[in-house]
Amino acid sequence: MSSSNTTIHHSQAKSFVKRVLAWYALHGRKHLPWQQNITPYRVWLSEIMLQQTQVDTVIPYFERFINHYPTVQALAKAPQDHVLHLWTGLGYYARARNLHKAAQVVTEQLNGQFPDTVEALSELPGIGRSTAGAIVSLAHQQPAAILDGNVKRVLARHYAVEGWPGQSATANALWQVAEALNPKQPINDTNGKAQNYSRAYTQVMMDLGATVCTRSKPKCTECPLASSCQAYAAGSWANYPGKKPKKAIPVKQTFMLLLQKDGQTLLEERPASGIWGGLWSLPEFAELSTLPSLLKQRWPHLKTHDKAQQHPTVRHTFSHYHLDITPITQAVTAQAVAQPKARYSAGDTTAQQAEQWYNPNQPASIGLAAPVKKLLGKLQ
Ligand code: ADE
Ligand code: SF4
Repeated sequence: MSSSNTTIHHSQAKSFVKRVLAWYALHGRKHLPWQQNITPYRVWLSEIMLQQTQVDTVIPYFERFINHYPTVQALAKAPQDHVLHLWTGLGYYARARNLHKAAQVVTEQLNGQFPDTVEALSELPGIGRSTAGAIVSLAHQQPAAILDGNVKRVLARHYAVEGWPGQSATANALWQVAEALNPKQPINDTNGKAQNYSRAYTQVMMDLGATVCTRSKPKCTECPLASSCQAYAAGSWANYPGKKPKKAIPVKQTFMLLLQKDGQTLLEERPASGIWGGLWSLPEFAELSTLPSLLKQRWPHLKTHDKAQQHPTVRHTFSHYHLDITPITQAVTAQAVAQPKARYSAGDTTAQQAEQWYNPNQPASIGLAAPVKKLLGKLQ
């Protein structure tokens, strides 16, 4: 199904909600610290902490934070340093700075009252649409959809929504699904009594994503959605959500020279900056035809034996390009001539490049560029 035509009929939504709520009653999480003494402040704090961090990590931070700042007013008055100190180890410190700012807005401009709509909450620093939805539904018990990482995964798989959620078309399609499923009216419980399930529905969607519809090896046989899940039917859960498209990265080419003398190979030190800065590497050149003149110029004291040998090209991939390396071995012996003139690295007219003969049987304690290490192992 394409990401733009997921139509959800009322009866389908009803069945989806009924099944997940029944699962929640049996298997959902109900004893997390922020699920006790529920207040907007506690829910907000937990949601911010949980944005990029696992529940188990968050719990002790949440407890400590609440002990230090039991109310939004206490947090608003705190020095930023103290807030950041209590956050130490959680990471993503912008969350703590925004939390502090938002507490000041709530205290100074909103009379200490948390807004109870998605629109108003989204105005506060650090609160996006999904976090706002979580606060509205969990704390205020009003219907509001959420779409955090867990829920994206469940919905993308259940409706086979193609595409990477970082792309707005995909995110819009998932939001549409989340809104269509979200129960807007009270629902009759098993005794026929109308109940408000806004809180339970939000919580169960998070719980399903975190414990059943996990990133790898989802437990589909335990999932209340399996009977209607498109990815389960197709065995294609691994395709959802779609991955961020990889940028094509350019390919650069180089030759690496392995001068070999008495079982040793000549290494040169890389300039301090740039790739492999300060590591030891092999001399490089760009054109095979320039090898004889390179040898004569740089190593006039070395006499070549046999012909240079070309070996299969190997690829080393950096974050922003591939480097295709063609190794060339050349046997040499020392010949008695005057020491070579000072040598200069390409593009640098001041620094002389250090060289050493590397003996794999008595390896020097030096840093080797990763592909150089591999080539030495293969070709020495
Ligand atoms: N992740 C984000 N919000 C959560 C919550 N309320 N409970 C468990 N995990 C969550
Ligand atoms: Fe996820 Fe499997 Fe459940 Fe589908 S059936 S929602 S893939 S756990």
